[in-house]
Amino acid sequence: MVLKVLIVGGGIAGPSLAYWLSRLNTEVTLIERFPRMRAYGQQVDLRGQGVPMMKKMGIEAAVRAVTVHEPGMQLIDQSGKEMAYFPSIATDSTQQSFSSEFEIMRGDLVKILLNFAQYDLTKSKTNVHHVFNTSVKRLEQDDDKNPDGKVHVQFTDGRKDDFDMVVGADGSGSQIRKIMLGPDAPDPRYSLKSHMGFFTIPSLPGDSDRWTLCHLPGRKVIGTRQDQPDLLRIYMIVHGKQPALEAAQNSESIEELKKAWSQLFENGGWKTDRFMHGLKHSPLADDLYSTRLEEVRLPKCSWSKGRVVLIGDAAHSQAVNGQGVTLGFVGSYILAGEIAALARQEGTSLSAAVGQGVKKYEKKFHPMVSQTQGSIFGLGILLPQSKFGIGILHAIAGWAAYLGYGQSGGTGADSKATWSLPQYPDLEGK
Ligand SMILES: Cc1cc2nc3c(=O)[nH]c(=O)nc-3n(C[C@H](O)[C@H](O)[C@H](O)COP(=O)(O)OP(=O)(O)OC[C@H]3O[C@@H](n4cnc5c(N)ncnc54)[C@H](O)[C@@H]3O)c2cc1C
Ligand SMILES: *[C@@H]1O[C@H](CO)[C@@H](O)[C@H](O)[C@H]1NC(C)=O
Repeated sequence: MVLKVLIVGGGIAGPSLAYWLSRLNTEVTLIERFPRMRAYGQQVDLRGQGVPMMKKMGIEAAVRAVTVHEPGMQLIDQSGKEMAYFPSIATDSTQQSFSSEFEIMRGDLVKILLNFAQYDLTKSKTNVHHVFNTSVKRLEQDDDKNPDGKVHVQFTDGRKDDFDMVVGADGSGSQIRKIMLGPDAPDPRYSLKSHMGFFTIPSLPGDSDRWTLCHLPGRKVIGTRQDQPDLLRIYMIVHGKQPALEAAQNSESIEELKKAWSQLFENGGWKTDRFMHGLKHSPLADDLYSTRLEEVRLPKCSWSKGRVVLIGDAAHSQAVNGQGVTLGFVGSYILAGEIAALARQEGTSLSAAVGQGVKKYEKKFHPMVSQTQGSIFGLGILLPQSKFGIGILHAIAGWAAYLGYGQSGGTGADSKATWSLPQYPDLEGK
């Protein structure tokens, strides 16, 4: 019996799950709210278990072809002087520096994942269908105890269909999560009391190809990265209450957002005046993306209900550690693997294994996620209030760089990892 699955969200986790499920006896529909492939975003990286995971998916060559080569990460002071430098390490180890060996533009990764799933299909079975410009309107499921239960779905375009499993891969603002938890459940988004923005301007000679971060007093940091020689990507983070920015965020007006961000960073020393001039006047800067930093922290045993389950940012988004893509990859592999393993073990259909399989997925994967969430440092400590605080941060970072600390896994999370990737024979080969 074919397992009929609906995946909601064509970002990273959704297509990755579609890929693993396509290796089983399934029929997968992947819907995306956007009218076309949403291949945007800045630099993302693959870390820790994300690296062997990507190799397992057979996309290493495709990823390497679009990898951004970033020599390392540096902290500078407001006069532009280097205070600490952490070079990237290019090895096959699962440990990565601040700049990972596999830095890639999010859009390139989305393209690889969606195209790859399709490519694999045309070669074997056409069991994954991509549907754009569509979302879920209503969701109802049969009783949990019914081994042949279905989830009844009504789409925004009016169509209706039944599925054996529905997967919310629709990001940290997940609509499937809202429906699954019910109207009275508290919002699981935990605010990191910070805002982040990024945009693009033309580069000039003298711009560094290192990931460069400059702290400013008032809990602010501005940084640059360069994935192409003629463009400079500007990153900004500010911690604490920012009424003007908050208002601009609510207005959803790009002009208001540009005004609010530039007020925060103008006269900040280094090259901030050029960057803020670019933000206000360069057409490239219309790509400004501004967001509140938040993490989805769901209580234990709430990643699924019956045959509805969450993966990726919808289940456990994290904002600081740069593990979003890695967790999206690993989680989708474990979900597909646990269901397949359980069905084999119990000698049942995949559909009959969904109810327990989704619980086993959370049980196996939650420990890895906990290792990466809620970093021991609040963001506040990494964004000092005063010049004096910034001086201390630079001194500590300088020592850490000198001692080679950044090399043992810049985020700390992967170096301590005791968690290892499970193996699922059902997902191998073919
Ligand atoms: C446009 C965009 C830009 C991003 N840029 C960065 C970045 O620069 N750096 C970084 O580290 N991380 C970025 N992220 C987040 C990063 O992709 C995730 O942290 C991580 O890869 C996990 O991916 P995900 O698939 O769980 O979620 P996401 O990547 O957020 O993907 C969710 C997908 O679901 C779709 N969707 C949402 N709601 C619905 C709905 N109701 N119905 C159907 N589809 C829906 C969205 O359009 C999106 O395509 C970005 C995400 C998005 C959507
Ligand atoms: C998306 O769907 C809506 C209605 O559901 C329709 O009005 C619109 O034209 C569609 N857009 C595209 C680009 O197909």
